[in-house]
Amino acid sequence: MLIAIDGPAGAGKSTVARAVADALGFTYLDSGALYRAVALAGARDPATLDIAFEGDRVLLDGADVSEAIRTPEISQEASRRATDPAVRKALVAKQRALLAHGDWVAEGRDIGTVVAPGADLKVWLTASLPERARRRGVPPDEVRERDQRDAGREHAPMVAAPDAVEVDTTGLSIDNVVRRIVGLVRERVS
Ligand code: CDP
Repeated sequence: MLIAIDGPAGAGKSTVARAVADALGFTYLDSGALYRAVALAGARDPATLDIAFEGDRVLLDGADVSEAIRTPEISQEASRRATDPAVRKALVAKQRALLAHGDWVAEGRDIGTVVAPGADLKVWLTASLPERARRRGVPPDEVRERDQRDAGREHAPMVAAPDAVEVDTTGLSIDNVVRRIVGLVRERVS
């Protein structure tokens, strides 16, 4: 089974997807970490990088880069590298290989539209721009710039799949959002 959770920066995707995966006993996939690792690797060919997940840690060629990939500079660089079709091709192939076996909650920008259009449930997670900027502790302009780049790119732009269920997390607690999504999953399987 595969649950896709897509949406803009700071909507709560990582926290919510991780909690939904825990609640259901599924594995969590943070696709953004792949784009961030490519950004950290600089000019190297993304197809040659060894990016791996070990529990909550992200490894790039065996080195733990979990903290290094979370800086605001890497956030912006990841969204710049994510416009490159060669980067997307390599990372979509990697995601599909991971998702081929087992039960997953995968989060990102294009899971429900490109990586796994056949997902059993697609959620489009949003929140107001001021709230998303506050959660990230960065100026709204920084979040807006990344949203515009992600939504405006030619290849796999960030957009809700037509069959996604929209969940606006503005003013909602994590628990509330998680319960709602777990409820949607249970409706689909019953
Ligand atoms: O956690 P946050 O929403 O801030 O970002 P992220 O999910 O770690 O993704 C970082 C960047 O990678 C995004 O701004 C996108 O440009 C890119 N990305 C993408 O293009 N497609 C995905 N499935 C996931 C991330």
